[in-house]
Amino acid sequence: MDPLKLRRVLLILFLGFVGWPMLLIGAGGLGSCRFPAVYNFGDSNSDTGGISAAFNVIESPNGMTFFGHPSGRACDGRLIVDFIAEKLKFPYLNAYLDSVGTNFRHGANFATGGSSIRPGGYSPFHLGLQVSQFIQFKSRTTYLYNRLQSNNRTNIPIKSSIARPQEFSKALYMFDIAQNDLSYGFQHSSEEQVRASIPDILNTFSEAVQQVYKEGGRYFWVHNTGPVGCLPFSILDNHRPGNIDSIGCVKSANEVAQELNRQLKNLLVKLRKELPLARITLIDMYSAKYLLVSKAKTEGFLSPVSFCCGSFHGFHLNCGKKEVVNGTVYENNACKDPSKHISWDGIHYSEAANLWIADHILNGSFSDPPLPIDKACQAL
Ligand SMILES: *[C@@H]1O[C@H](CO)[C@@H](O)[C@H](O)[C@H]1NC(C)=O
Ligand SMILES: *[C@@H]1O[C@H](CO)[C@@H](O)[C@H](O)[C@H]1NC(C)=O
Repeated sequence: MDPLKLRRVLLILFLGFVGWPMLLIGAGGLGSCRFPAVYNFGDSNSDTGGISAAFNVIESPNGMTFFGHPSGRACDGRLIVDFIAEKLKFPYLNAYLDSVGTNFRHGANFATGGSSIRPGGYSPFHLGLQVSQFIQFKSRTTYLYNRLQSNNRTNIPIKSSIARPQEFSKALYMFDIAQNDLSYGFQHSSEEQVRASIPDILNTFSEAVQQVYKEGGRYFWVHNTGPVGCLPFSILDNHRPGNIDSIGCVKSANEVAQELNRQLKNLLVKLRKELPLARITLIDMYSAKYLLVSKAKTEGFLSPVSFCCGSFHGFHLNCGKKEVVNGTVYENNACKDPSKHISWDGIHYSEAANLWIADHILNGSFSDPPLPIDKACQAL
């Protein structure tokens, strides 16, 4: 056999015995999952520009720590979803609603500030609407991609900025939403009424997950809801004596959040049975955030009730806005060092807090099943 032919035979043998198992590992069989894309649904905790694109720009000093300019995030810098993108080695997710300079090659972000699971809250972009946007995104992407394939002499640069149709079923679908169902509920009804609405909130959530599954989504990464009673504005707005726990959070509000999380956990047990091909990881965001607040001092933060930007005078004034209320001028500028505060603006976490939380959740220590994010395709 001549050397060239021998090399070819050896290569074929190599691919036959070694190549296939390597491909399988690459697809998530044994090693890491290598999700090709991420689709995120949520509220301001993971909005990377949606609400800013749709309504008013989130103003400076938002973005001061990391981006150096307002970046559509209600934060001084990066959000947990940004640290997830870094971990998975993707560019930061662009907001679906953002029409300028966006790239959806590795996913899209449907999260928008103020969103709740059920319609009729602070924002029109409730979860069901976000999922409809995703379905439209998927069908238009598929149409455009196939047209570019069949006519591959034109518009090729566009291809580098759109998702691959065959990757929708390999992508990671993330959810971080429910906090506004609680906050809006507390503002407009009693805590007991909010508690009674939990089954309906979760039914609506379940429908959204099932819709994504029907569209081919298989890998789900679900953040439960955080300790809403530990947000500075909740604490400052609490007027019930005895309603503050040992670390300074509002007890009753947190109890409702925990009840929602208990029922969410049960729902996901049920969904794992009903959607046999789904791999669902539940992240106990509540415990991660609560742990951070309880360890504020030892982790280098000031009191959990402090925040860096915006103000509270019995009502909440936005970070970055100069506001005149009854003749009094409020300049809502930022503090000198946002990294000393868990809360950026009384409602949203600072970049430093987001980094701490991301560090603690991404290795799987708050996950059920306890897998790190790059193994979430193996969750059973
Ligand atoms: C502003 O003044 C009006 C009239 O005195 C009062 O009803 C209202 O509560 C005040 N608003 C705030 C936010 O203090
Ligand atoms: C995950 O990371 C956190 C923060 O670095 C660390 O405290 C924890 O022990 C880690 N857990 C696991 C299971 O690796």
